[in-house]
Amino acid sequence: MSKGYVIITGAYGGLGKALSLVYAKEGFGIILIGRNKTKLQDLDSKLADITEVKSIICDISNWESCKNAHTQITALNLRIKILINNAGITYIQNFNKDYKIAKYRELIDTNLNGAVYMSQLFIENLTQNKGSIITISSVIGYAPVIGRTAYAASKFGLEGFFSVLKAEQNNRLHIMMVYPTFIQTQIRAVVKGDKTINEVLTPQEVADKIIKAYTEKKSKIYIGKTAKLSYYLYKYFPNFYVNLMRKKVADEI
Ligand SMILES: NC(=O)c1ccc[n+]([C@@H]2O[C@H](COP(=O)([O-])OP(=O)(O)OC[C@H]3O[C@@H](n4cnc5c(N)ncnc54)[C@H](OP(=O)(O)O)[C@@H]3O)[C@@H](O)[C@H]2O)c1
Repeated sequence: MSKGYVIITGAYGGLGKALSLVYAKEGFGIILIGRNKTKLQDLDSKLADITEVKSIICDISNWESCKNAHTQITALNLRIKILINNAGITYIQNFNKDYKIAKYRELIDTNLNGAVYMSQLFIENLTQNKGSIITISSVIGYAPVIGRTAYAASKFGLEGFFSVLKAEQNNRLHIMMVYPTFIQTQIRAVVKGDKTINEVLTPQEVADKIIKAYTEKKSKIYIGKTAKLSYYLYKYFPNFYVNLMRKKVADEI
């Protein structure tokens, strides 16, 4: 593959699938990462008509599983150009006696630690290939939304981690953070209170914006009007933002 390969975690999820398709159509080889063999095979067979595809079973919240995926990918001797840290879960629950610490741990292990594990394993390869790490954050990576303490901790954690990594790398590696507003996916399907707010983007429109921003080597991209508005409101009028957000999501939890 002349353009090299893109590793996409959470590849058969809503945004992951859209990203896999746009990067495949752009001429990249795709390495699909996921936990479910059948879902991986299904997407693999769809993409195989468009580009070179490899599928690797991996639970990104588990370091040994990530190391195993790295060993399998390294053995293929491919030119890895991009890592997309996309896999993620949510947990919507106010922080009170009903809050489940096991859920908090699982979320941090997936959203934050999983991205760190994959980045550490592939950083040398990516730097050699003047590659990119693209990480999917959220509006909740810079502005609070009630009921999402664990999710915010994971996305703010990613923010801190990658801001330091970007400074360390000093342009040897392109690092891009993505902040989309709500996307029409299954991420909230397993949690109570799925009442999305304001605009909801399609995975396709988010993936199109991500590949454009990647091509332009942007370091941050805010996707959707709510993402941009929340950024400015919380930065300049934090109390106003919090009151507005509370009214919009209070009955969701
Ligand atoms: N949807 C939104 O409104 C929204 C908004 C802003 C940002 N985001 C971010 O966008 C990213 C993609 O989410 P999505 O909306 O596309 O959700 P999704 O449809 O639920 O997809 C999430 C994917 O992550 C995978 N995953 C979860 N835990 C994993 C693990 N331990 N190891 C490997 N894969 C794992 C899931 O696979 P399984 O089926 O095996 O669990 C699934 O394929 C996430 O980082 C999310 O935080 C979403």
